[in-house]
Amino acid sequence: MQLNVLVIGGGAREHALVAAIKASPRAQVWCAPGNAGIAELASCVKVQPDDLQSMLTLVKEFSIDLTVVGPENPLAAGIVDAWEEHGYRIFGPRRDAAMLEASKVWAKKFMSRHDVPTAGYRIFTDYSKAREFVKESVPPLVIKADGLAAGKGVIVAEDESTALEALDRIMRDEEFGEAGREVVIEEFLEGDELSVLAVTDGETIIMTPPAQDHKRIWDGDRGPNTGGMGAYSPVPVAGVELVEDVRKRIIEPTIRGMASEGRSYRGVLYAGLMITSDGPKVLEFNVRFGDPETQVLLPLYRGSFLDMVDATCQGKLHQHKARWSDEAAACVVLAAEGYPGPYEKGIPIDGIDEALASGVEVFHAGTARREGQFVTAGGRVLSVVGKGADLQKALERAYSGVASISFSGMHYRRDIGARALAY
Ligand code: AMP
Ligand code: GLY
Repeated sequence: MQLNVLVIGGGAREHALVAAIKASPRAQVWCAPGNAGIAELASCVKVQPDDLQSMLTLVKEFSIDLTVVGPENPLAAGIVDAWEEHGYRIFGPRRDAAMLEASKVWAKKFMSRHDVPTAGYRIFTDYSKAREFVKESVPPLVIKADGLAAGKGVIVAEDESTALEALDRIMRDEEFGEAGREVVIEEFLEGDELSVLAVTDGETIIMTPPAQDHKRIWDGDRGPNTGGMGAYSPVPVAGVELVEDVRKRIIEPTIRGMASEGRSYRGVLYAGLMITSDGPKVLEFNVRFGDPETQVLLPLYRGSFLDMVDATCQGKLHQHKARWSDEAAACVVLAAEGYPGPYEKGIPIDGIDEALASGVEVFHAGTARREGQFVTAGGRVLSVVGKGADLQKALERAYSGVASISFSGMHYRRDIGARALAY
């Protein structure tokens, strides 16, 4: 039976989601707002992800059977609750469960209640008390605005003055508005970062292979944070035992804990972890697919992704048999000049077809079409993904695909996965 699916969002993550869903012959796919790459696979509709009213109209108009949400904002705003009220099927947690990402204060307290390992912390609503605490503490410290701040609300402060400056920006100057009314001041953790995602209907849990993101703009993890410059999976430092440990000590207690508090979690839970000498600890939860992790994880899925998503929404995930490839995948993000600062748009992109012909996947993040030609339309422009028998082969593939593509000012990291290869 044909299934009309709506994917919400417009980046490379959503392109990967659309591609994975389209692999099912029964799927007819819409995407809002989508982008020029997604438009080759799905009907794109100009509705913004946070415009829930127009999105609902779209669901009615196109007889959408199933909605899959990419970004966090609609989830935090209660899109799942709204859809359920109308009897529409949707993949993602309800608003009360999306709190795991929407409020860092709530997430920290939740982890304390359920003994989920995380960095030590204090919570402050009072600016001068927060300052006092910083002055008494030994840096480095991590300062986090409570609410959603588009990935900009976390400051890793190497010294006291940076920590105080972060408090000024968040609490005194209210740079993130309401999101900064409370702050979490956290112990700085050292180790390797790891992303583990789990699809769940609240009961059954399907873990993805672990992935690693590269958040800094320059090689060697230098420069400012970005939305993610590349990723790979699986991760050599995260062997079978560690992944089992993450399941037992982090993922299961979280899903069970949410259920026990009457906030049954449905959708995908993303745990951003630090692998410390004391074992894995949670840095953050996201209540959605990761970007760019999704671009490497979905190409490794061997079952029907649509069936998994549909089974999750129907609370029948136990009936779904998950299968992952034992290959590796690597993603290299191509960015516009100036990113993550201001950048130009509308620059012509060459070589995407050549890259595709070489066997890589190219997911569009920020592109548009102008007179039949792809042009840049964002800071992160493309995700180039290579697969191979092992990480080295996957990386070779991805970088040879990258070599075919060019646009003026294009830059990318040349060391994706390098630390894993050295390991
Ligand atoms: P978050 O948005 O909470 O994942 O934080 C963004 C980035 O800040 C993470 O990917 C880490 O690199 C870093 N970070 C966050 N919390 C900590 C911590 N407690 N210790 C060290 N680094 C952290
Ligand atoms: N890869 C980081 C994120 O999706 O938030």
